[in-house]
Parts: sequence; C-alpha cells; structure tokens
Amino acid sequence: MCGIVGYAGPAVDGKALDVVMEGLARLEYRGYDSAGVALVCDGDVVSDKRAGKLANLRGALEAAPPPSSATAIGHTRWATHGGPTDANAHPHRGGDHDQIAVVHNGIIENFHALKNELLAAGVEFRSETDTEVAAHLVARAYDEVGDLTEAMRQVVGRLEGAFTLLAVHADSPNTVVAARRNSPLVVGVGDGETFLGSDVAAFIGYTRHAVELGQDEIVTITPGHYEVITFDGEPTSGKAYEVTWDAASAEKGGYDTFMEKEINEQPAAVRDTLLGRTDDAGELVLDELRIDEERLNAVDRITIVACGTAAYAGMVAKYAIETWARIPVEVSLAHEFRYCDPIIGPNTLVVSISQSGETMDTLMAVRHARELGALTLSICNTHGATIPRESDAVLYTHAGPEIAVASTKAFLAQITAAYVLGLYLTQLKGGTWADEARAVMAALHDVPAKVQEVIDQMGRVKEIARFMADTRSVLFLGRNVGYPVAMEGALKLKELAYIHAEGFAAGELKHGPIALIEPGQPVFIVVPSPDEPHGLHGKVVSNIQEIRARGARTIVVAEEGDEEVVPFADEVIRIPAVAPLLQPLLAVVPLQVFALHLSSAKGLDVDQPRNLAKSVTVE
Ligand code: M6R
Repeated sequence: MCGIVGYAGPAVDGKALDVVMEGLARLEYRGYDSAGVALVCDGDVVSDKRAGKLANLRGALEAAPPPSSATAIGHTRWATHGGPTDANAHPHRGGDHDQIAVVHNGIIENFHALKNELLAAGVEFRSETDTEVAAHLVARAYDEVGDLTEAMRQVVGRLEGAFTLLAVHADSPNTVVAARRNSPLVVGVGDGETFLGSDVAAFIGYTRHAVELGQDEIVTITPGHYEVITFDGEPTSGKAYEVTWDAASAEKGGYDTFMEKEINEQPAAVRDTLLGRTDDAGELVLDELRIDEERLNAVDRITIVACGTAAYAGMVAKYAIETWARIPVEVSLAHEFRYCDPIIGPNTLVVSISQSGETMDTLMAVRHARELGALTLSICNTHGATIPRESDAVLYTHAGPEIAVASTKAFLAQITAAYVLGLYLTQLKGGTWADEARAVMAALHDVPAKVQEVIDQMGRVKEIARFMADTRSVLFLGRNVGYPVAMEGALKLKELAYIHAEGFAAGELKHGPIALIEPGQPVFIVVPSPDEPHGLHGKVVSNIQEIRARGARTIVVAEEGDEEVVPFADEVIRIPAVAPLLQPLLAVVPLQVFALHLSSAKGLDVDQPRNLAKSVTVE
C-alpha cells in the first residue's frame, strides 16, 4: 500500500521530477487515492500534491512546473489515517520554514502520543495523517544535530508500527534519507544516480542493479552512492542483486489493460515456474529450497498461510498435496492464523503464499509461525521481498511483475509452485510415490499449451460478460479443486465489477444457498473432470439440474468431450481435458476473462479498482 520513489542524480534539467513521476506511474498500482512530489531546489524544498489519481498531480505540475532539481521524492497513496484529500496527500512538510519533506508507507501506531507531545510544544498540524508527526520530528531532530541521516535515526527510534520513510531537507541538496521497518524499500544503483522505490518497478527504466535492505535499516543516497546503517547506527550493507526483467515487462505492451496482458502471460507464468525444476530423468530437483531432504521428509503436517487469491491457491494446493504426498494440509487466512493459537509441532511446515512478498498479514503470520518453532517456506513472486527473506526457505514463482490489482498470472504460478512442492515431498518418499510424482510433473509440463488454448477460445465468454453488464449478483459453484476456483471467480467479480458474487462448494447448496436461486439468477459451475476419482462429476451434474429446475441461468465450465452437462447448460465454456487435480489452472481462466470484460462493459477501471491497492502492507 502506497508507492514511494526517491532520486538523487546529476543536475540535468528536470530529470529528478521526470524520474519520480515515471516511478510513481509504475507504482500507482500500490495506491491511487492521491499523489505528490517534493524537490530540493536552490536551498528550498518545493512540493505539490493532489487528491485523486496521478493524472491530477501531473496536470498541476504541467500548469505550474517546479524549478529544476537533482533530488526528489514522490508518493502515491492508499489512505489509512485521514481521507484522500489534498491536505492528507504526501509529502508532508516540517520545520519552521517547511525545510523538510517526508513521504511514508505504513502506519505509525503511536502517532497519537507523539502528536500530543508536538501539539503541546506548539507545532501546528495541517493534515490528519500519522505521517505528519514524522515530518515534524525529523525537522526538530535536524535542527539539533544538523545531519539528515542522524535526525532520521533518532526519530525512527521513537516510532512504533510499520514504515518506510523518505526525507529530504533544503540544506542537503543531493541527499535523500530513507528508513524501513516492516515495509518495503529497495535501492537502485545507476551511473552517477541513485534511486529508491517501494519495489524495483520504480526505477526499472533506468537500472537493473538493485540492493535489498534489511529490517530496521537506514539508507542515505547521493548521486551514484548509497550508505546503509542500522537503527542502532552500525554501518551495514544491503544485498545487491540484478533484476531479471526489464521495463517492457512492466508496460501494457499493446494491451488495453495490464490485466488483459497478464491473463495472456499465464502460459509463460506456468512454464517459467516449472523451468529448471526437473532433471533429464524427469525428477524434481529443488536445491534452491535450502532445507535438507531429511528435514523435509520428516514433515508430518503443513499449514498454508495466505490472503485473498493466494489463499485460494493454497486451497487448491491442499487437495493436491494431501492426495499426492498424504500429508495433512490446513489452509489459514494469514490474519486469522496470526491471532489464534495454531498447533505447530516440530515437523510442521508453514508455507506462506504471496505474490508481493510484502502482505503484512502474511508476514505477521510467518513471524508468528517462526516464533512457534515451525519450519517456514515462502512461495513468492518478488525477489528479495520481506516474506521470503524472513522464511527458512523460498520457492520463487516466475510470473514476472504483476501490475493489475486483480491477481491472475500470479495465481496460476502460485498453484504451479505449490504443486511442485507437493510433488517434491511425494518424490522424497521414494518407490511408487516417486513414479507418481514424475508422471504428474510430465502432465504439468503440458499445461501451458492448454492454458493457451483456453485463452484463444474466449470469444463467447467476452460476449456473455457484455450481455451481463447489468447483472446484480452472480454465484459460482465448484467441488474439490473446483471449489477454490469458484471462490476465486467470485472474488474477481467483486473486486473488478463491484457485483455481489459468492463462490460455494456445490455440495453445500442444499444446506442453504439454494434459497438464493430465483428465475434468471446466473450461476457459473466449474464441472470436475469426468475422470475425477470420487465420482464428483455426476454429483455436480445433478447440482446443475437442481438449480436449473429452479430457474437459474447455468454457465458451465466443462472439459471438452463432456456431453453430460449439455442438456442442463444455458452456456457451455470448454476447457481441454487434463488430470483432475490440475484442472484449476485451466478452469479459472474463463472466470478471469469474464470479470475483466464485465468490468470494462460497465466502464470501470480494470487495473485499479476502487478502494483497493496491489500490495496490502498494513494489517
Ligand atoms: O501479494 P499477495 O499475494 O500476498 O496478495 C494477497 C492478496 O491481497 C491478493 O491476492 C488480493 O486478494 C488480490 N487483489 C486478488 O485479486
């Protein structure tokens, strides 16, 4: 939540502002309630900030361009304390002459006490935010110590909660100081210029040399240089790495929306997540896990922690891992797991799933699990993010940057990585277990081409979506691995089209939800493969008949060749046949496409739906 950019570079006309505005445009998916910039110019700090999307700020800056500068910070906000107004937008200013500007991501939990202290000292506040407290505190500390890094160090020692803070001072024309605790921040190192960003997308157009910072660290950037110290003032160094994707990956590439592009990237997301994980004999090789085989072989229970779409990926994984590896798997919403007393044994593996690797609820769950003595493994799409850094092991998904707020390709990549993990645990058991793991892996390698087939046949789904632009409620049904797919379909529709939608386990219908069915009620049904071994196909076909008899409009997602569904379907959307447990990778695609096109038919913002942000970095 919130995107932050910082820049210290050469005094090239207007470059600092251009870099920061470009960075904000790339980070706007992290929050889009308001935006602002501050520039250090000729012994002064100049700032502008506007409620609404970045376009509002851009318009204001074009109408009244600020003076040229070599040093700048910027912010795009998802409001926490104080509504999305001009006054509450960042940067916030501090000091007798507004000589400080600060931007912030996170929540300063003790801001009330600090604000009261400042009010008592006569400080006037101009916003309702927690951030303004930090601006005044840094300004006052600077007045005492005359050094921006030391001023920041003194202030962060007083703050509680989660924060990334960036500050510039009128007397430090080439310097941006940043601090992080529980909130993301990366450094980008260019030739004679240095960048800061909530993630590497902020500066990917300029450099792929990145440095990840640890917890409770402060970085001071100047043109081409950076220095890192801990909150205790000890010198330390970040961890340098090369970003493996380029600026084009974070652009729309000819598509109208990022979501459409990302749906089309799903075959590659699955393929790349499988890449390099099997040897010539088809055996899984997961050296990257950094956990020895003996320890993994002893795992007798798995708890998956995640939120939203990632949690649905976890639910799919539960069915698969329990079937293949015969290890009990529980899926907990991370925010629930954190505040209960989970039963963690010495051989419990806690698997977190997170696209961003920064979701605060999931991070807190991982920390909780570690405190309880669990072995922790992160399935993550973002290199060097906090969750993988704080986990014992990591299995990266290779979906590339996901910019649309609604998750699509990350979901498929998360399921794929979780399958790989489950199959690896199965393989470790040896004998026929290993044979089965090899056979499923072989089938998994065929999935990207099948996902492509689904994507290529979405014409009718788009039409259905357009016809349904006025629909007020849609239900989704599934069973077994189709159940989390149904819930994911409902989540996509809620977040993108603002339509009431619910996903149910089809078996639950008769226990209550069937009362919702009235003539014309649209219901999507994810039909299990006719090869599903527990006979669920027939049961779901019966469910379709039951709701159709009560007037539902049935939109059935079924495998090619499954003719049994035809008499009871108002619409049949075909997907290629695949092993039953792998079906979610195909069945979810029409539901994503449906939500996308219903949202655009309603004229809504597909990539940046209201009230949301891509990366939820507050609890
Ligand atoms: O970055 P994460 O995978 O941890 O994010 C988890 C959820 O916030 C995320 O999946 C959210 O539900 C998506 N907007 C759904 O499309």
